[in-house]
Amino acid sequence: MNSYSNNNYLKNSIKIFAVKIDQIIESQQFDQLIKFLDKSERTKIQGIKEARDAQRSLFSRLLIRIALIQLYGKTNEELVFKTNQYGKIYLKNFENVYFNTSHSDDWIVCCLDTNEIGIDIERIRPINVNIAKRFFSHDEYKYIERTTGDEQIVSFFRIWTAKESYVKAKGMGLSLALNSFSIDVHDQISKTYLLKDENWECCQLNFDEDYAMTICFSNVSTITKRLGIYYLSLDMILDLISKKLNINEVAISQVHKVSSWGILKSPDSDS
Ligand SMILES: CC(C)(COP(=O)(O)OP(=O)(O)OC[C@H]1O[C@@H](n2cnc3c(N)ncnc32)[C@H](O)[C@@H]1OP(=O)(O)O)[C@@H](O)C(=O)NCCC(=O)NCCS
Repeated sequence: MNSYSNNNYLKNSIKIFAVKIDQIIESQQFDQLIKFLDKSERTKIQGIKEARDAQRSLFSRLLIRIALIQLYGKTNEELVFKTNQYGKIYLKNFENVYFNTSHSDDWIVCCLDTNEIGIDIERIRPINVNIAKRFFSHDEYKYIERTTGDEQIVSFFRIWTAKESYVKAKGMGLSLALNSFSIDVHDQISKTYLLKDENWECCQLNFDEDYAMTICFSNVSTITKRLGIYYLSLDMILDLISKKLNINEVAISQVHKVSSWGILKSPDSDS
């Protein structure tokens, strides 16, 4: 068991693992990496037609496996994933271990906590913000309408990722209508309650200026959570095959250590 498998550390902090991949790997590398996954994951990924999408899904599963092995001292073979009725994956044989993944363009991210958690990342790109009329609540749409130009696009993606992180934290995906709840937009989604369910909190992370990213976590506990971000590189993952590394033995120091720490405050502990 590694030194990070420490109870307080795991309880009091949300961990984010992230890798940026801006190229398509060789098919031989893809075939070797997919062997680290289980049969149902392999079947799902092999069924994805677009190479970039399949690759993102492959790295998403590798990332969550590396994170779980790193933090909980388990072996890859012990990780047995199940999928809920809406598509959220969870671990069959673990208690108090919750996680979620997201990918957009070059980034693949996952987050882990001791309670339910959701994450969404989106590349900020030109979009017709009128679709907010259909998917966003009245307040959210009005908020976007009050902004203009680039600010409007950024606001749109901030709200979008907050809403998606919420439906993903709840594990319901889009079976929960996006216009059936609303984000409290007064604080630019930096630290807010979702209006309809005060057990959840969204936190917008300034991760990469070209992307919007939000995590949504259960705030049933009164603990002020810390946030740890771990960056991996593509080379580090490819080392698994070129250096014939065992995925169980990837050392935390190779995960570029903890690159940043922030404190996630609840809205009423602002002092
Ligand atoms: C789950 C959902 C919300 C996420 O979709 P997404 O933004 O396309 O995808 P992301 O990259 O953020 O997340 C992908 C991960 O979500 C996970 N996921 C799937 N269903 C999930 C669910 N019900 N709850 C939580 N996570 C889920 C999967 O594990 C997937 O990772 P994988 O590739 O390793 O399997 C999906 O239901 C969806 O279809 N979204 C469409 C987005 C949209 O049209 N939004 C309009 C807003 S204006």
